[in-house]
Amino acid sequence: MSAIQKVQHPHPESRKYGAYQSEIYANGMFKNIMPTVTTDPNKLEEQAKQCMSKKGYNYVGGGAGERATMDANRLAFRQWKLVPRMLRQTTHRDLRVELFGRTHDTPLLIAPIGVQVIFHEDKETGIADVAAELGIPYILSTASSSTIEEVAQASGDGARWYQLYWPQDDEVTVSLLNRAQKAGFEVLVVTLDTWALSWRPWDLDSAYVPFVKGIGDQTGFSDPVFRRKFKEKHGKEVEEDIHNAALEWQSDVFSGAAHTWDQLELLKKHWNGPIVLKGIQHPEDALKAVEAGVQGIICSNHGGRQLDGAVGSLEMLPEIVEAVGDKITILFDSGVRTGVDVIKALALGAKAVLVGRPWVYGLGIAGKAGARDVLRGLLAASNMSFHVRFIVLTDPTGSRSKYGPRRHSECRWL
Ligand code: FNR
Repeated sequence: MSAIQKVQHPHPESRKYGAYQSEIYANGMFKNIMPTVTTDPNKLEEQAKQCMSKKGYNYVGGGAGERATMDANRLAFRQWKLVPRMLRQTTHRDLRVELFGRTHDTPLLIAPIGVQVIFHEDKETGIADVAAELGIPYILSTASSSTIEEVAQASGDGARWYQLYWPQDDEVTVSLLNRAQKAGFEVLVVTLDTWALSWRPWDLDSAYVPFVKGIGDQTGFSDPVFRRKFKEKHGKEVEEDIHNAALEWQSDVFSGAAHTWDQLELLKKHWNGPIVLKGIQHPEDALKAVEAGVQGIICSNHGGRQLDGAVGSLEMLPEIVEAVGDKITILFDSGVRTGVDVIKALALGAKAVLVGRPWVYGLGIAGKAGARDVLRGLLAASNMSFHVRFIVLTDPTGSRSKYGPRRHSECRWL
């Protein structure tokens, strides 16, 4: 007589994320309510374009040069393909991840995105609220249209990290770090690929850059050290001369002059917590990050907004993982659009992934509720994909044969 196996119920967290699908069908079938934001990743951008201001849409949708790096980001995801395995347990789907000593319910992070007020008035505070509700850490950009303290308030007990656009003025830098720490931001993300805004034709063609009018400068305008120095130099308050205040802030934060590895000491001295370097694409830079004694890196090319003609970020992830192993926490972004994209990045060795443009499009379509729909959709789709568990990835460079020589990268949930 064969043994009867105990029925295993889905992990409660998975059930929660998977419930979004049932919710959509129930709303449609019984109340004739359709989803506000499309669930089709390939239609999301077009829907956002119809809803957003032209300048807001161009700001998020555009990239450096001819957007070749953005294409490369997507192509890299398309080249890695999943191979499902059958007749294995799929009930213990658990998306939780531990990052720097704190366990999070999902392997997603909200990528730092500047000037969110140009997409919708719900802006950073609205997204921080949604992130806390969904259990996703919120990464606040320095180029924010809300202050550090306002976002902390909105985020409440939610996990929050602070992204630094590293000013030239050390006194201002230290002031930002102190404010962020005081406001409960746990991890410092230092962006390395943006010492100046790059050549972005979609913005150039409408001659649009919000920062020159003080939009997206709220971090600086609310900073006591920046304000004091501005008054000493110009003899007036920031509010009395927004034009010059914007110029001063921009020339400090986007000065065009890169900081160097040795200068990380300043940040290490003044930040009492994990430091993560964002923008790493070369394995040697990943090794340098280990040497520099920081705790994490983000394999990212800024979503193709900084350097045109660059390699797809996912293409570099396996080499970076191979170079540094588990000596440092490796996070990933650039081109994540679907649930399986999340799985691919995790399977290739990222511990968690940052999501950028998709929720911005949701924000542009329907405010924070729209961003929430996009994020819930991504979580539901990642979760549902685990129904076919035991996934392996095939290496795009490998050739076909019975079992190899394709390199198989095994998912950590196998
Ligand atoms: C960004 N990104 C970004 N990064 C950062 O460190 N600080 C910032 O202020 C911004 N601002 C910003 C604005 C907009 C409109 C976009 C689209 C992106 C880059 C972001 O954190 C992330 O690296 C990319 O969004 C990842 O690419 P995808 O997946 O969104 O294409």
